[in-house]
Amino acid sequence: MAYSAPKGANDLLPDAMYVWTRAIQEAAGVFGRFGYQMVETPIFEQTEVFTRGIGEATDVVGKEMFTVRSGEMYRRALEAGSDAPLKADQKLSLRPEGTAGWVRAAVQHNVVEPGAAPSKVFYAGPMFRAENVQKGRLRQFHQIGAECLGATDPTADAELIIMLMLYFRNMGIPMDKTTLLINSMGDEACRPAYREKVRQFILDHADQMCPECQRRAQTNPLRAFDCKNPDCAKVMENAPRITDHLCPECQDHYAKVKSYLDAMGVPYVEDPTLVRGLDYYTRTVFEVQTSFGLGSQSALGGGGRYDKLVETVGGRPTPGLGFALGFERMMLVLDQANAIPIRPSSTDFFIACVDDSVRDTAFSMLTLMRQAGVSAEMDHQGRSLKSQLKLANKLGANRVVFLGPDELAQGKVKVRNMATHAEALCDLDSARRILEQFGGRTVGAATGRLSADTLFAQ
Ligand code: HAM
Repeated sequence: MAYSAPKGANDLLPDAMYVWTRAIQEAAGVFGRFGYQMVETPIFEQTEVFTRGIGEATDVVGKEMFTVRSGEMYRRALEAGSDAPLKADQKLSLRPEGTAGWVRAAVQHNVVEPGAAPSKVFYAGPMFRAENVQKGRLRQFHQIGAECLGATDPTADAELIIMLMLYFRNMGIPMDKTTLLINSMGDEACRPAYREKVRQFILDHADQMCPECQRRAQTNPLRAFDCKNPDCAKVMENAPRITDHLCPECQDHYAKVKSYLDAMGVPYVEDPTLVRGLDYYTRTVFEVQTSFGLGSQSALGGGGRYDKLVETVGGRPTPGLGFALGFERMMLVLDQANAIPIRPSSTDFFIACVDDSVRDTAFSMLTLMRQAGVSAEMDHQGRSLKSQLKLANKLGANRVVFLGPDELAQGKVKVRNMATHAEALCDLDSARRILEQFGGRTVGAATGRLSADTLFAQ
C-alpha cells in the first residue's frame, strides 16, 4: 500500500529545503542586524498556553487546533469510551503559531528582567492548523516569526515593520506588488467600549448578517470584519471604525508609528477594518498582502503589538510585539516572480575511475577531500566512464579528477575544469599532502577550509 502525506501537509524535498534554509539564513542576517537572536520552542505545548494566550473565541483555537495525546492517554480515552478526564499538563496541542509558546518560554525562563533591555528573538519552524486546505492555506505550514518583549516605544513597532519589509525585499518578493496594511486596535482603555459599539451595530443589523456573525456579536464581535459573506461585508462597511474611538494615548502611539514609517519612506495603507485573527493584539497591527501568486490567501505575513499577553500567561506586565510570515506563501509569490533561489551545485570534485583497478585510490581521495573541507563525489554503482561523466554533469561538479592506471603509475591524475574544459596533468602526491594537512591528518595541520581552486594548482 502506498501512502501519501496527510492532506495539507507537504514534504520539503531538497530544492524546497534549500529555499527554506536560505530563508532562515536571510532571517538570521537581516533580523540579526536588528538585534534578534534565534530560539526554538517545542512544537507542542499545554493546550492552555494557546487557549489563554491566543483566545478561546478565535478560529485558530476554537476550530483549528490539533490536540494530541500520548499513547497512554489515547488508550485510556478509548477504554473510557469517551474523553477521559485529563490533568492540565496532559492536555497538549500542536502549536498553531509561535507567539504564545515563546511568551510562555520567556516567562518560564525570566527572559525579560525589569529594567533590562528588550528581548528580541526570532524562530522558524512548522505550525499546525486544521484549516480547509486550499492554495496557500495548509494544515502544516512553516513560519518565520520575530518577537520583541519589553519595548513600549513606537520606534519598536516601526523597527519591526521595517525589518519585515527589508526581509521580503531581500528574499526577492516584488515589493511593488505588495501592500502593507496597518491599523491600531486600541488598548484596554478604549477597546472595550469600541467592542461594545461593534456588538451593538451587529445586533442592530442582525437580520442582514450570517448566523456566524450573529454568534460573533456575543463572543468576538470584531471578527465580523473578516467575514467572507458578501452581505456581512457590505454591512460591516458602515460599522464603527476603531480609529474614531482610540483613546488619546493610543492615538498618539499610532500617529508616531506612522510618522516613523513616513520618515523612512515605507509606504503603507491604513485599514481601520484590519483586526487580525488572534485575540492578543493591542494597538499596532499590520499585515503584508499581495494577490501576486497567492489568490485569495493574500496575507504573506502579519503581526502587531500584544501588551497584555505576558500577563495573560502568568508573567509580569511586559509589553510585546512581533510578526510571523508564511514560508509556503512566500514560495508561491517567489515562484510567480521567477525568483525562487536555485540550489547551487555543491560538488567541487567528481572522481572518475577509468577502470576498476583504481577504485581504492579513488575512495581514499574522496574521503581525504571531504575531510579537508571540499565536496566530492564518485560513482557507487559500477558505471562506465561515459556514464560517470554524465553523473558528474548532473551533479554540477566543478572539476572531474580522472584516475587512470597509466597516469597513476607515474603519480599523476588528469583534472578537467568542467566550465572551461581545460585539462591538466597534476601531481597526486602533492594533492594528497595538501588534503592531509587540511584534513588534520599531519602534524601542524593547516586550519580553515581548503579552497578547491588551489588543490590541483600545481
Ligand atoms: P498569522 O497572521 O496567523 O499570525 O500568521 C502569520 C502568517 O503565517 C500569515 O500571514 C501566513 O503567511 C502564514 N499562515 C497562517 N496560516 C497559514 C496556513 N494555514 N497555511 C499557510 N500559511 C499560513 C501569527 O501567527 C502571529 N503569531 C504573528 C505574530 C507574531 N503576531 C505577533 N507576533
